[in-house]
Amino acid sequence: MRAVKTLGLLGTGVIGGGWAARALHFGIDVLAADLNPGMQAWIRGAVDNAEGALSRLTFAPLPPKGTLRFTTDLAAMARQVDFIQENIPEQLELKQRVLAEVSRCAPPDVLIASSTSGLLPSDLQRDMQAPERFLVGHPFNPVYLLPLVEVVGGSRTSGAALDAAGEFYRYIGMHALRVRREVPGHLTDRLQEALWREILHMINDGVATTGELDDSIVYGPGLRWAAMGTNLIYHLAGGESGMRHMLKQFGPCLKWPWTRLEAPELSKQLIDRMVEGTQAQANGRSIRELERLRDDYLVAIQQVLRQFNIGAGATLRALEERLYQDSGSAARAATAQPDAIEAGKPLRLIETCVRPEWVDYNGHMTDSRYLQVFGDATDALFRAVGVDDVYRRSGRALYTVETHVTHSGEARALEPLYVTTQILGLDDKRVHLLHSLFRRRDERLLATGEQLYLHVDSAAARAAPMDSAVHARLEQIRAAHASIDGPAMPARHLRLSRS
Ligand SMILES: NC(=O)c1ccc[n+]([C@@H]2O[C@H](COP(=O)([O-])OP(=O)(O)OC[C@H]3O[C@@H](n4cnc5c(N)ncnc54)[C@H](O)[C@@H]3O)[C@@H](O)[C@H]2O)c1
Repeated sequence: MRAVKTLGLLGTGVIGGGWAARALHFGIDVLAADLNPGMQAWIRGAVDNAEGALSRLTFAPLPPKGTLRFTTDLAAMARQVDFIQENIPEQLELKQRVLAEVSRCAPPDVLIASSTSGLLPSDLQRDMQAPERFLVGHPFNPVYLLPLVEVVGGSRTSGAALDAAGEFYRYIGMHALRVRREVPGHLTDRLQEALWREILHMINDGVATTGELDDSIVYGPGLRWAAMGTNLIYHLAGGESGMRHMLKQFGPCLKWPWTRLEAPELSKQLIDRMVEGTQAQANGRSIRELERLRDDYLVAIQQVLRQFNIGAGATLRALEERLYQDSGSAARAATAQPDAIEAGKPLRLIETCVRPEWVDYNGHMTDSRYLQVFGDATDALFRAVGVDDVYRRSGRALYTVETHVTHSGEARALEPLYVTTQILGLDDKRVHLLHSLFRRRDERLLATGEQLYLHVDSAAARAAPMDSAVHARLEQIRAAHASIDGPAMPARHLRLSRS
């Protein structure tokens, strides 16, 4: 299977738009195809809408954003892309026909995945050419923020295709949950449907309103579910003997059962109750407003869960780890070049651009982002000399002690930038750096960031000498930089001169 540089989208509605936003954000180009030419404007709007929340998900160094193109020619899309994600309406015959057509245009090493909510992959791949590269990759709305994607193979899907799809989904920050056996509704939608069916029954019977039923989840189980599913939670609920006791105590009610298996008839009265109930819950807020609220708390929850390295937070951590590693590998490769560590020449470790969300109300890159870019440059340098995750796991790290930033120019949205890094001083516990941020278009110096780092033994909570190999690599660079001029304004206290 090939490396994915361009993602092809087949159908660009709610789900296609979500895939586009996620892939573009993590540096993948997208060629979106939809029979309806009006979807071009729609998908661009959807990507812009997603950007606000997505941009706050992580501060790890991201690759340049991918580019978005649109076509109504499905065959042309299939010929040009490395991976196709199908998101057309949930109708078996339609999907079968379109997937078969597209499979005749896409080279056989191009994976084709369907976002289907519940259809079986074996049915969908029936008429396809090279069906072994087909699978279900079922995401959740909003695709750009929820990491879950269910990966399901059909009877003719190859294991290699499932592995490669999982790898791609993880690359764009998702949790690829491999479903062992295809079943209608996969895993999640079966569970969601069971809950929804009970909701419909209770509304139909006048037991509760839609708002009360939502409260019954939001104030209780919903909070638990963000990090522990029903099974682990019930294991905890069973006391010392866990799940065994839980099944003994509540097993009999499962047989009554409390719940019903068949959905109620969708009568006019039931539909009206559902619609009126949810309108009352929306309380005058538009769908867009509610989406923004949902997106904001989804970002915040994932960031909290990251601290516990659990659930979606663990996925976010793994993604950030990979982004920092990629940035460190690029820096390592740059410093390994024969002419990289050259007397009188600073290192050039970070190439980036002003992401639109970095811009303030004046239209310029905002202050905090300078610090972020300089932080990325420091991280890249330290990784390049061996202060990587393995090193940090040994309980040692370099802590920032002091930073001094100067500004001498401005950068607008999407301006390409680069950072050069110079080692000004070094001893066995301290590193003194000078980063310089340049605008690529005219090589203008925009800012400098002078920083002092202290090597710390975290367990002992005190400064300690760094590893000798790390020190030797830093010393090699410092010696090469010894002849470069230092900062024009070496770290000084801010003071207004008196006139
Ligand atoms: N909406 C959800 O919450 C959700 C969640 C997960 C998975 N899914 C699945 O994703 C798929 C798409 O759902 P959606 O909600 O995005 O639907 P949607 O109606 O928003 O979008 C479907 C798009 O497909 C286009 N289309 C229709 N026929 C086409 C064809 N022959 N060729 C190319 N494009 C065509 C339409 O113009 C439209 O833009 C479905 O299979 C659905 O089950 C939906």
